[in-house]
Amino acid sequence: MNSTIAQLKERFEQALVAAFGDELAGTDPILVPASNPKFGDYQSNVAMSLTKRLGKPPRAIAEAIVQNLEVSDLCEPPTIAGPGFINLNLKLTYLEQQLRQMQADARLGIPPLKQPKRTIVDFSSPNIAKEMHVGHLRSTIIGDSIARILEFLGHDVLRINHLGDWGTQFGMLITHLKQAYPDALTTANALALGDLTTFYKQAKQRFDEDEQFREQSRLEVVALQAGNQESLRAWHLLCEQSFLAFQEIYDLLDICITNRGESFYNPLLPAVVEDLEAAGLLVEDQGAKCVFLDGFTNKEGNPLPLIIQKSDGGYNYATTDLAALRYRIQQDHAERIIYVTDAGQANHFMQVWQVARRANWIPDSVELVHVPFGVVQGEDGKKFKTRSGDTVRLKDLLDEAVSRARTDLETRLQEEGRQESEEFKSHVAEVVGISAVKYADLSQNRTSNYIFSYDKMLSLQGNTAPYLLYAYVRIQGISRKGGIDLSQFATDCPIVLQEETELALAKHLLSFDEVLSAIEEDLMPNRLCQYLFELSQKFNQFYDRCPVLQAEEPQRTSRLVLSHLTARTLKQGLALLGIAVLERM
Ligand code: ARG
Repeated sequence: MNSTIAQLKERFEQALVAAFGDELAGTDPILVPASNPKFGDYQSNVAMSLTKRLGKPPRAIAEAIVQNLEVSDLCEPPTIAGPGFINLNLKLTYLEQQLRQMQADARLGIPPLKQPKRTIVDFSSPNIAKEMHVGHLRSTIIGDSIARILEFLGHDVLRINHLGDWGTQFGMLITHLKQAYPDALTTANALALGDLTTFYKQAKQRFDEDEQFREQSRLEVVALQAGNQESLRAWHLLCEQSFLAFQEIYDLLDICITNRGESFYNPLLPAVVEDLEAAGLLVEDQGAKCVFLDGFTNKEGNPLPLIIQKSDGGYNYATTDLAALRYRIQQDHAERIIYVTDAGQANHFMQVWQVARRANWIPDSVELVHVPFGVVQGEDGKKFKTRSGDTVRLKDLLDEAVSRARTDLETRLQEEGRQESEEFKSHVAEVVGISAVKYADLSQNRTSNYIFSYDKMLSLQGNTAPYLLYAYVRIQGISRKGGIDLSQFATDCPIVLQEETELALAKHLLSFDEVLSAIEEDLMPNRLCQYLFELSQKFNQFYDRCPVLQAEEPQRTSRLVLSHLTARTLKQGLALLGIAVLERM
């Protein structure tokens, strides 16, 4: 099945050539879903855009296009409005036939891409020995969803965790480890450092206060870089401990990711310096090796240097990113590299990419994208903190969401006089709690800040995960009530669209592919949330207006199929957001 909009675009391109000759071949027909159903389903503004080029009034251009436009199999006769908008209304027979195809296809009418791209999604990427914070939570949730969507479309996706597992901070961590846990390195048993955040804070405090400790830490960095066995073992222990804590979060969130931290690129750093040197980009500035950046200036208005190698020989976050970038292109053969981090790192990536481009490391076929996101705020609009002012531990945050979902559920069960097993309750609470957190994050335009509110995200009303989950449950309820296996209507079932709500639902179902294509371009998962929210609303409107089980044939079957398609689309769409559905809740 070819997406409707893609087919219409093709027809427009043919009409443009037929009407105005070959020089218009490849002209973008500027075809968009109509902003208001009053104007039909799709609208093209191409006539207005061609007035100058063709030296004709837009209305005349529109008329010539329409005369040559062959869309009678898809649409009612096109109409022209205002100065020259061309409006299209999909035909009922076409919609019905499309729905039948969607119903018969396990991928809901979305064929996998013919030209998949080798894509890297660099996301989550917390730092060893520091607790994952809400920023990493956003990166994890958004990056995972982007990866899921691109995978579903057929791209070949590598999910990379660019862990902060290397750098000078290990000097103080290892020194503290050796002094505070002297047995750690000699006993075979995994050591339990307990809360790593506390450990980090202790090390940091000693580093800030104790001159001798600072010196020991500095030497420890040198030892680690030189490959000293004991130092490496200590480093390894610290990493392992952190992974365990991160993995706990990934398990809760159902995240798959490959760990490939900064340390991985450590052996490649000297070559970065050599090659930049050879490219004539490196300048010595106060003992450090730098590249002076175009378009970036410091406070005094002078060109800003990007430090590649510090005067003490150490490397920076940016150096590692340069090495990673090159590795991903040369070894991973990535064609699209997507970095999911907070908006604050936008300049960092601009700078790294500029240097890589000037060094000629980025072929034209490779696309680099930063996917920035805003800050998570508390209900007071300030940075999200616990009541005592500490950063919120992700584990606590997720546990709290689940426990609140549990309380809500118990209240509802009591109100409805329902008895459910412990297993049911804990499963529902976990799914609802975790999906509420994910959905609240994903449904925002990621570039803006958003306010974290348990009450809002767990509400059964509004654009929330529970609302969508409930729409799905409602549909499962129809099949339970009617004793009908909805999947029996696999192929060739009657589809009849009569009521307005039915038609609106059908059209919305058929635009699923358009949403996914848009996200493939701009990597905005909130589009999918909005789509699924509207799908649930349209289903609820349909279900309120149109009897399903009580309807006569062929409406009855047609409406069951429509309901089933809605459920399948909800399930698939939610899966792309990393959210599982519930059969009952
Ligand atoms: N570890 C970094 C942080 O916590 C994020 C890494 C993002 N990825 C990258 N390739 N720089 O801010």
